[in-house]
Amino acid sequence: MKKILMIVALAAFMMSGLVVTEALAANPAKKCKTCHNFTAKHKVGPGLAGVFGREAGKSGFKKHSKALKSANWVWDEAHLLKWVCNSKEAIKEFTGNPKARTKMPPQKMCGEKGKAVVAFLKTL
Ligand code: HEC
Repeated sequence: MKKILMIVALAAFMMSGLVVTEALAANPAKKCKTCHNFTAKHKVGPGLAGVFGREAGKSGFKKHSKALKSANWVWDEAHLLKWVCNSKEAIKEFTGNPKARTKMPPQKMCGEKGKAVVAFLKTL
């Protein structure tokens, strides 16, 4: 009897592991990890912890572009949706400067994909 219980417990444990692995694999923001940590620690780009609702360019990241250094918007839903879809175009709109550039290449996470990314960013 004990043995059966152990096997059941073990199977349940293994299955929960699988669910966690699947959730990670399905993370909509997976591709961002090439350049970002989902913590406050900076990488190629700034750490993304707490980015939702924060003023742009204020994470303490030292290598920002001019445009992000002098940014005056807050990372709300609307700004982030445009950013993850096409940062190259978004930076021009946010700054009002058609020549503004960002160091982050466009990610093409638009529409539903973008919404999923932003929903994830809110949890950080
Ligand atoms: C190839 C590297 C790269 C990838 C991939 C990338 N980023 Fe970035 N990201 C950067 C860099 C570099 C910056 C700083 C840009 C600047 O200063 O112009 C940045 C800036 C940002 C900022 C502004 C942070 C702040 O504090 O103002 C956000 C938000 C962001 N990225 C989100 C994302 C998300 C979400 C993804 C995935 C969909 C992503 N990035 C993918 C390199 C990248």
